[in-house]
Amino acid sequence: MTTMKALIYAGKGQPKLVDKPMPQILQPTDAVVKMVKTTICGTDLHILKGDVPTCAENTILGHEGIAVVQSVGPSVKAFKPGDQVIVSCITSCSTCEYCRRGMPSHCTDGGWILGNTIDGTQAQYVRIPHADASLYHMVAGATPDEQVMVSDVLVTGYECGVLNGRVEPGSTVALVGGGPVGLGAMLTAQLYTPARIIMIDLDANRLKQAKSLGATHTILSGPDTVKQVMEITGGRGVDTAIEAVGVPATFELCQELISPGGVIANLGVHGTKVDLHLESLWDRNITITTRLVDATSSSMLIKLVDAGRINTKALVTHSFKFSDMGNAYGTFGAAAQHNALKVIVDF
Ligand SMILES: NC(=O)c1ccc[n+]([C@@H]2O[C@H](COP(=O)([O-])OP(=O)(O)OC[C@H]3O[C@@H](n4cnc5c(N)ncnc54)[C@H](O)[C@@H]3O)[C@@H](O)[C@H]2O)c1
Ligand SMILES: [Zn+2]
Ligand SMILES: [Zn+2]
Repeated sequence: MTTMKALIYAGKGQPKLVDKPMPQILQPTDAVVKMVKTTICGTDLHILKGDVPTCAENTILGHEGIAVVQSVGPSVKAFKPGDQVIVSCITSCSTCEYCRRGMPSHCTDGGWILGNTIDGTQAQYVRIPHADASLYHMVAGATPDEQVMVSDVLVTGYECGVLNGRVEPGSTVALVGGGPVGLGAMLTAQLYTPARIIMIDLDANRLKQAKSLGATHTILSGPDTVKQVMEITGGRGVDTAIEAVGVPATFELCQELISPGGVIANLGVHGTKVDLHLESLWDRNITITTRLVDATSSSMLIKLVDAGRINTKALVTHSFKFSDMGNAYGTFGAAAQHNALKVIVDF
């Protein structure tokens, strides 16, 4: 077999299923894996909107999934053909300065490259550079679908939202955006026992999901959102506001919700400029963080998923065959109409 099926970014608004050459081992540290399951991310939708200029047309999309190792280069030590693996959304050389500082998102020979600057996981086969630090062994204690959620959704919610947002026991957390990544942040925020988790979204179904997964309060976003949050918090605002949408309105909302000393943790991918209201925030001792997920917590989160301590089952709402990728995009892209969270795509 010399060609495979793959889903490419064919220009603004156009995901397209095409034939592509099979990937080959190019470096001794590479692996080629055969995808078993993949999924679609909010970030893929941002690429299709034209928000991510680093992603060139004809790139195979996708940076999540589980796979079976097909072949490995001579320097790969931790994986061999036949191993079942979780693909990390972040590729890490583990030796450059950024990797050694714990910031592989900015790896000089990696970072978020899958489905962005190199071909990604929405294809039958994928080349994984620096396989030793960019793949994880699958575990026995969780279903394959649940383990797909580790590639990106859980690590991003945890690192960009919960860790950067300094969620603490007893604190009040507002999550703006209850998509899969926002819900990933909500599931992992609970590891720190915040007193209140307020989920804010435009989609009533996602709010219902959030409530069943641990939100103490849900707010259908509208003109009264700030007032409602102030009522819940006795007029103080929240200690942590996690922005998990990626549009100006939601980042501005976080600025209105934050209490003195609080942290606004941005995790949304933004395609346009956003106003920063220093005229009202300069004296409030707040912190604003941004982060591209580093995926340095993947091993820890895999242990929690394996032990059943984090339940990602509810994040998966739909399944499609890979040949039906068009419908998978249609469903995830109009998630509110379909009551969709994460869609699993089986090869
Ligand atoms: N920083 C990173 O490393 C990183 C990694 C992965 C994903 N992301 C980003 O995280 C964000 C969330 O990803 P996702 O897959 O959950 O996306 P998603 O599109 O499924 O979810 C976004 C949610 O925001 C809600 N929303 C939209 N506009 C809103 C508004 N004005 N007020 C309140 N809620 C609103 C939607 O109803 C939806 O539930 C995206 O921007 C994605 O690109 C960032
Ligand atoms: Zn993603
Ligand atoms: Zn590196």
